Amino acid sequence: TTDSMPRVFIGALDAGTTSTRFIIFDGAGRPYATHQIEFEQHYPHAGWHEQHPYEIIRCANDCIEGAVKKFVADGYNVSDIKAVGITNQRESTVVWDSETGKPLYNAIAWPDTRTARLVHHFKNKNGAEDLVRICGLPLSTYPSALKLVWLLQNVHGVQEARKRGSLMFGTVDTWLVYNLTGGGKPGTDTKFVTDTTNASRTMFLNINSLKYDDFLLDFFGVSQGVRLPDVVCSADDKAYGNIASGVLAGVPIASCLGDQSAALVGQRAFSVGMGKNTYGTGLFLLYNTGEEPVFSKNGLLTTVGYHFKGEKPIYALEGSIAVGGAAVKFLRDNLQLISDSDEVGQLAAKVPDAGGVIFVTAFSGLFAPYWIDDTQGTIYGITNYTTKEHIARATIEATCYQTRAVLEAMAKDSGYELKTLKVDGGMSNSDVCMQIQSDIIGIDVVRPEYRETTALGAAIAAGFAVGVYSSFEELKQVNTDGETTFKPSITEKKREKLYNLWQRAVSRCGGWLR
Ligand code: G3P
Repeated sequence: TTDSMPRVFIGALDAGTTSTRFIIFDGAGRPYATHQIEFEQHYPHAGWHEQHPYEIIRCANDCIEGAVKKFVADGYNVSDIKAVGITNQRESTVVWDSETGKPLYNAIAWPDTRTARLVHHFKNKNGAEDLVRICGLPLSTYPSALKLVWLLQNVHGVQEARKRGSLMFGTVDTWLVYNLTGGGKPGTDTKFVTDTTNASRTMFLNINSLKYDDFLLDFFGVSQGVRLPDVVCSADDKAYGNIASGVLAGVPIASCLGDQSAALVGQRAFSVGMGKNTYGTGLFLLYNTGEEPVFSKNGLLTTVGYHFKGEKPIYALEGSIAVGGAAVKFLRDNLQLISDSDEVGQLAAKVPDAGGVIFVTAFSGLFAPYWIDDTQGTIYGITNYTTKEHIARATIEATCYQTRAVLEAMAKDSGYELKTLKVDGGMSNSDVCMQIQSDIIGIDVVRPEYRETTALGAAIAAGFAVGVYSSFEELKQVNTDGETTFKPSITEKKREKLYNLWQRAVSRCGGWLR
């Protein structure tokens, strides 16, 4: 090690829906070592989506080990890794037994729609109309609440654990922190916590007070016999404890944020009116609304943007789109139109347009701003002219049209139209996809040079907690190495024609599951 080498590093664990990665950053937000694993998804029935809780932990540990190995091989010292930040897929629900630390069922992943009937049942319950104002989220299959209700109603082991008083509920952040800090084993200081950004996705948290809300817990019937994690700040040097074992044993976990919140931080959208769109398994457009929650009249969610210890919580409006990269994965794994996700752009670029095909990728129904839950994926406009290139293009366009719909909802809610859209995440790597995006929304799309903004956001939050950064001003210097701008290249007339076609398709897709 020479004197010119950085001496402070932060590791970020990004546990997404379909892949996990661990990235080691220096204090300026530059990456030094990365390890990434795609993990298995289980679809036991149509609309069901599960993950194995131990697989989530194994991938986390393997990624940490893999990245640290590369880091050490490059001549760096593990002891210079001062903290770890965690960021994760949100809403996905895990239940386990506090006596054994063992999961009582698979994790029910956020896109799972098995709770569609429960949604209708709970919509008719007294007080349902008050939910959005209290927790920021409309009743749907998406948040954790009804996933937990389903587990309580259907899984014997969960019911038994509840009777014994040993039933623990958590989202993926909680499950990760619990296991990384000792898994409840005697002699460990195991933490059972969640941060406000993750907790704001459960429907159990009061979005104003940022505490669990008795009305909400009663409404869902979980006020008795379910142990909920303590709610703490997203960046906090004490709340998350230390990693208990492995190559990073003893290193403090200093931040935890839902992945979309982490991306907001990673894009340094620290001022009111700044936003970002992350193209992961789903697509999530978050827009910073400042220190007060803003409630949407147009189908957006109110959520905690980020919440650093010693600072006021910052809220965001969110447009959640359930299917983004998931549809590309569908083309790859189910239809086998491509062998690698990266190929989707090349395939789509072979045709000038989708040839009249509109793919409403409503695999989990349609989320924001539509919230149509009685539909499934639908392809319109197929003729003998249609080729796989058209399908690939229509798949990309579906995510881009939904982004436009979310942008329009945000403009209505905020009275302000975004002039540029900041992007990151898997699909943003494709120039073709980002050009299509710009064409469809008619504004500039700006992509940073370094696109792992979710992991970067977790590292920034952890760095903030352990004193690597002391002000938001300093953070503005992170990841400013250059960006690419995509400008709209089609006429307004064509843009409106295409979007009309999309809107017609959406207006027809509801009611399929009735
Ligand atoms: O709300 C779900 C979201 O957190 C998942 O993110 O990047 O895994 O699609 P991603």
